[in-house]
Amino acid sequence: MLHNRKTYIRLMEESDVQHKVDWFNDEDVRKTLNVDFPISAIGTKKWLHSVSANNTRCDFIICSKEDNMPIGYVGLVNIDYKNSKAESYLGVGNKKYWGKGHASEARRLILDYAFEHLALNKVYSYVWVENEKMKHINQKVGFQIEGTLRNDICYNGVFRDKHIMGVLRKEYKK
Ligand SMILES: CC(C)(COP(=O)(O)OP(=O)(O)OC[C@H]1O[C@@H](n2cnc3c(N)ncnc32)[C@H](O)[C@@H]1OP(=O)(O)O)[C@@H](O)C(=O)NCCC(=O)NCCS
Repeated sequence: MLHNRKTYIRLMEESDVQHKVDWFNDEDVRKTLNVDFPISAIGTKKWLHSVSANNTRCDFIICSKEDNMPIGYVGLVNIDYKNSKAESYLGVGNKKYWGKGHASEARRLILDYAFEHLALNKVYSYVWVENEKMKHINQKVGFQIEGTLRNDICYNGVFRDKHIMGVLRKEYKK
């Protein structure tokens, strides 16, 4: 378990499956993501079993310290030990907890894990161009926009652009 001031993250367990299903099936959460819709509990459970022993990824659940509620998800995927980098994803799926600083705290926790525990050199993330909140959260801790992928996602029949953002260990503002 990794702790910050009002947020902690722990590995995802089977008991979190329904939370993840509810979050990803929520239109307000999903509209800034690129996930399949709708997702089911049975499919999510199978997915969790299939990835749980995979050492190229780690999937955490974000919890609020105040009430121990699971409120979101954060992780590293495509961990590339040769090139010392990984992709990160993050979201606060329970909308009641938006705007309270949980995503910013979880962003730092996953970077601490990547840079200190795994000793990686770089973490990158894909963010839709319109997702100002996520760009701000990333830039606060040192991420830079490294490029823009044009028409990279088709959402509800509309092509959208996304940024690739990256931060090096030496640039990380804890
Ligand atoms: C984006 C998301 C993670 C933010 O979570 P959150 O817990 O509300 O975020 P925080 O409270 O930690 O921080 C929000 C920050 O954005 C800032 N912000 C809010 N609206 C903003 C805007 N329109 N433009 C720029 N910054 C904005 C806030 O001021 C705050 O920054 P500060 O702490 O420096 O003041 C959450 O809304 C979410 O999960 N959305 C759906 C899924 C998603 O988009 N995931 C990211 C995919 S890349």
